[in-house]
Amino acid sequence: MPEKKPGSADHKTDAAGKHASGAPWRNFYGRFKGKTLKDSQKTYLEEDLAALSPGAVGWEENPERTNLDLQALFGDREVWLEVGFGGGEHLVHQAQNNPQAGIIGAEPYINGVAMLLGKIRKATTNNIAIHPGDARDVMDVLPEQSISRAFLLYPDPWPKTRHHRRRFVTQEHLKPLATVLKPGAIFRVATDIPDYVRQTLEEVPKAGFERIRASDAELHACWDDWISTRYEQKALREGRTPHYLTFRRLG
Ligand SMILES: C[S@@+](CC[C@H](N)C(=O)[O-])C[C@H]1O[C@@H](n2cnc3c(N)ncnc32)[C@H](O)[C@@H]1O
Repeated sequence: MPEKKPGSADHKTDAAGKHASGAPWRNFYGRFKGKTLKDSQKTYLEEDLAALSPGAVGWEENPERTNLDLQALFGDREVWLEVGFGGGEHLVHQAQNNPQAGIIGAEPYINGVAMLLGKIRKATTNNIAIHPGDARDVMDVLPEQSISRAFLLYPDPWPKTRHHRRRFVTQEHLKPLATVLKPGAIFRVATDIPDYVRQTLEEVPKAGFERIRASDAELHACWDDWISTRYEQKALREGRTPHYLTFRRLG
């Protein structure tokens, strides 16, 4: 489980800024763990998580960064990626409604992973793979041009100006995303933060995307197949407005 914090012994780097495993230094500023897991959630993690692995993603188990075998994982299905799935409600919803797709979800927050596993137990899906960690590590080992659709739903907002560089919509994240997306692939971003909309509109096209659904009305209209996420519900309760941005990978 990814409970190692920057600064811990496991995060020691050499002069080139690499971990002993060869992993590059990647700051993660979010939470790995929240309140104590319920016994049932601990059981899901122990019993179910390993079987839902997309393959060798971590640097310890895959120091060569060999690509994942998506054919072995999902057969001929198209492959989608959800970054930071939180409690997993959107991921399960899409998986249930799109049996023609296999969806890889990445989420370092272990309580969220446990919530998703609980939902998967109640659902009848066989098209979900979970990496309980950083989406950057998954993007490292995805074949180029292998992903047909990507979701970034309510990414951590990092409201302070000096923290904007931590946002997912920076070239550090967007360039690898662009590399693994197929030409024509769809990239959806939802956020309740107007300044996040600004940065998304500035940065995503620079990485090789064009915006579609670009009218003001569509900015506030959810996608037809949308299900509101936990974070969106919180934003609505607190009086913030959702924005839905859609991009297409050029190429
Ligand atoms: C504000 S929450 C939103 C969760 C969910 N998408 C929703 O709408 O309810 C943002 C999530 O992104 C996750 N996250 C942040 N950086 C990430 C990264 N590099 N890779 C994968 N997930 C990440 C966080 O752990 C957090 O759970």
